[in-house]
Amino acid sequence: MTTNFADYFLLRKGLTFLNHGSFGSCPKPVFQNYQDWQLRLEQQPVAFLDQERDLINNLSKPRHMLAQEFNTSAQNLVRVTNATTGLNAIARSIALTEGDEILTTDHEYAAVENTWEFLVRKVGAKIVRAQVTMPLLSADQFNEDLVSQMNERTKILLLSHITSPTALLFPIKRVIDEARRRGIITVIDGAHAPGLIDLDLDELGADFYVGNCHKWLLAPKGAGFLWARPDWHQKLEPLVISHGWNVKDRKEDRTAFLDGFEIQGTQDPSAWLAVPAALEFRETHHWDEVSAVCNQRAQEFAKRVTEFTQMEPLSSPQFCAPQMVAMPMPKSDPKALKSFLLNERNIEIPVFDWKGTTIVRVSVAAYNSADDLNNLLEALRDYFK
Ligand SMILES: Cc1ncc(COP(=O)(O)O)c(C=O)c1O
Repeated sequence: MTTNFADYFLLRKGLTFLNHGSFGSCPKPVFQNYQDWQLRLEQQPVAFLDQERDLINNLSKPRHMLAQEFNTSAQNLVRVTNATTGLNAIARSIALTEGDEILTTDHEYAAVENTWEFLVRKVGAKIVRAQVTMPLLSADQFNEDLVSQMNERTKILLLSHITSPTALLFPIKRVIDEARRRGIITVIDGAHAPGLIDLDLDELGADFYVGNCHKWLLAPKGAGFLWARPDWHQKLEPLVISHGWNVKDRKEDRTAFLDGFEIQGTQDPSAWLAVPAALEFRETHHWDEVSAVCNQRAQEFAKRVTEFTQMEPLSSPQFCAPQMVAMPMPKSDPKALKSFLLNERNIEIPVFDWKGTTIVRVSVAAYNSADDLNNLLEALRDYFK
């Protein structure tokens, strides 16, 4: 198997791009399909955007394919532009009151924290950030870290499936079950998960799950989904109320949940419509195998980095996200290190402070060569020598 798919991607040559986790590149055939959809839209805009004509049919295929991929009913998931939008719709649909607590962890994505912070401030509710015992070595300990913070005020459990600052794969199933047993609403931020791990949405059994298709599933930017348990469909409020909210003579296979989220004013849905092309690309190229190779390379690379930094890894391998490793660095200024890597070595990679530690998060995608990783290793060695 070829492990370097660089020719399939549009990334600028000469740039060492190791940040697929933030914003990845989508393969050329998928991008072509995306542009084909845009062209079709421009060629016959009314037919394309009229819900009675092409729109609903076209929007349905990605939904059905994703439902099959993630083992759920196509009635349970809807298109959203990105994980943030999905999480905002969920947050706005849950009536928070004074004293309510949102239990989350100290590894969450800053923009998502903003969403909830904005709402809790309005009503006098509170975010409780459980500290996950680090390094993450045990699912039991993770469970205990969260369950020990649950109480009668806990209204919502908000968890990343794969964390952004630390690239950890959280073992979330047990804590979801425990929260649901206690009547706590479970919201899972799966921004990175689709395409990186085997995802079984029904089995996982949260109340809500949002995922991005534009990261590891390889779709163009602007494609994500919101999954909700059937008992939430009636209660979920679209962020934008438009034609879809009040459809007369709704078709048999349509619901207010689907229409409310799928029809929200004039939009270009081409990124979503290209999701089947992304799934087909992955299948044609045996992406599970490609991903496994990338993952192995990421793990081996992290070991090489650890050998010279002597910094303790953030977790045991089982809790490390596939294809991404967040590597703690010796004491340093993250901004200066980022600037060195980008401006002096042409390496695009996230470098940030996480709770007082400088972290470099490497993503190994199919297009990354051994040279990319060697460049980074050499640059880090030079910087810390
Ligand atoms: C854990 C997590 N949640 C949410 C998001 C937001 O994703 P988007 O910007 O596509 O909405 C990200 C983005 O990287 C993320 O890492």
